[in-house]
Amino acid sequence: MSDRVRAFLAVALPDEVRSCAVAAVEQLRRAVPGDVRWVPAENHHLTLKFLGEIAEDRVDALVARAGAKLAPLAPFEVALAGFGAFPSAREARVLWLGVARGSAALAKLARKLDTAARVAGAERERRPFSAHLTLGRLREPARVEIEKLAPPTSVPWTVAEVVLYESRLAPDGARHVPLAHLPLGAGLDPSENEFAPES
Ligand code: 2AM
Repeated sequence: MSDRVRAFLAVALPDEVRSCAVAAVEQLRRAVPGDVRWVPAENHHLTLKFLGEIAEDRVDALVARAGAKLAPLAPFEVALAGFGAFPSAREARVLWLGVARGSAALAKLARKLDTAARVAGAERERRPFSAHLTLGRLREPARVEIEKLAPPTSVPWTVAEVVLYESRLAPDGARHVPLAHLPLGAGLDPSENEFAPES
């Protein structure tokens, strides 16, 4: 049997957005008492599709299939803003930073990648996609008073690729290792792509 890798597809953050997420964690850390596992800065990302454990020998097929789905889509802008909690602020388990701009485009990517992931045997997503950046996970569900916080806002940035990450689990937390970079817009006519470099 082939070796398996725990993997997911996500949008990586540029440095200035990462520092916004780190500032958001610091703000939440002061506001939310109790036992929270905060996501370290190097693991901040916007998850598009969690693949679970997939066979290593299906990774190339996944990259090809997902890459083909992304090639016709133009790069787009995303900005983060506002705190939220899953399933609710009354019984929070997951604390996150929301998406102020680009959420429909992210949902479209998630839908395309969910279909592409079948080639690697990943399960279809049953829950509706809701773009978010996970900042912390509570060990016990608790009420969190996030509505009183002044929400941080990131600078907008252009999402031009999706990253396939391996998530290596270790006792001190997961380490995310990029396996492949899948560009958006690779199949577009450059004259139709407003973000293409001018020739
Ligand atoms: P999240 O951003 O919604 O928390 C890498 O582990 C990413 O995959 C996490 O950031 C998490 O997304 C998502 N993930 C991890 N385990 C998952 C699971 N069992 N089901 C769905 N998504 C999962």
